[in-house]
Amino acid sequence: MKRKRLLAGNWKMNLTGKEAAALASQIATGAANLQRTEVWVAPTFTSLAPVAQALQHSQVSWGAQNAHWEPCGAFTGETSVPMLKELGCSFSLAGHSERRHIFGETDELVAQRVFGILKGGLTVVLCVGETLKERESGQTNAVLERQLRAVLDKIEPEQVKQVIIAYEPVWAIGTGKVATTKEIEAAHACIHSFWNSKLPDTCPPILYGGSVAPDNFAEIVQVPLVGGALVGGASLTFEKFKKLIAISEEVTVLVRN
Ligand code: PGA
Repeated sequence: MKRKRLLAGNWKMNLTGKEAAALASQIATGAANLQRTEVWVAPTFTSLAPVAQALQHSQVSWGAQNAHWEPCGAFTGETSVPMLKELGCSFSLAGHSERRHIFGETDELVAQRVFGILKGGLTVVLCVGETLKERESGQTNAVLERQLRAVLDKIEPEQVKQVIIAYEPVWAIGTGKVATTKEIEAAHACIHSFWNSKLPDTCPPILYGGSVAPDNFAEIVQVPLVGGALVGGASLTFEKFKKLIAISEEVTVLVRN
């Protein structure tokens, strides 16, 4: 096994600082001595400091849900990489579908965020995924390639080790409608081959995200090229998240090809 399976909780705009710290403390205990799994959490900006305190002596890493590319400046409502690093963050998401579709972030803007995060020395979890309309009109691969191209065109080979990709079909996020293993396998294969066609043999780990839950996770982690999961709803309850960690620890297959 080359690297551990990654289980990343995206808490979105949920939990106050106190609530987030309480959940983080439970996760810290539940994630001790893991053999096959790395656990990351992404709380809201205001919860980062209390979560950092709760996780400081644990094996769990924390990061942000978004980051700006400039270190400081007149960007009302934004947060910079140096600010995140001061709070001990090791990663930031970029291009989450809620950023793209609710807040209108374009491929180019997402790429700017990605390069700011990389330049600042954090790992980026680059989220990509198609809408239902795009899937139904046969554009899934084209959309994934377009979203990746914005980053791939400018990335330096030495930056690739700081990248994780998350494939999250928009129609499966928060809907309870999980993609089939065939759909996941096909999308991950598309991402993998497109990335490697631009930068041979460098494709980063690819997480699946979209209604991951204890009752579907064992099947998902065994899909070829699934390196872990980005989990929204099921990461907000310790009982569910604990089950996902346990499943990840039990399933031995990582990446089969
Ligand atoms: P979900 O969210 O697990 O609630 O579907 C996943 C995500 O948006 O990262």
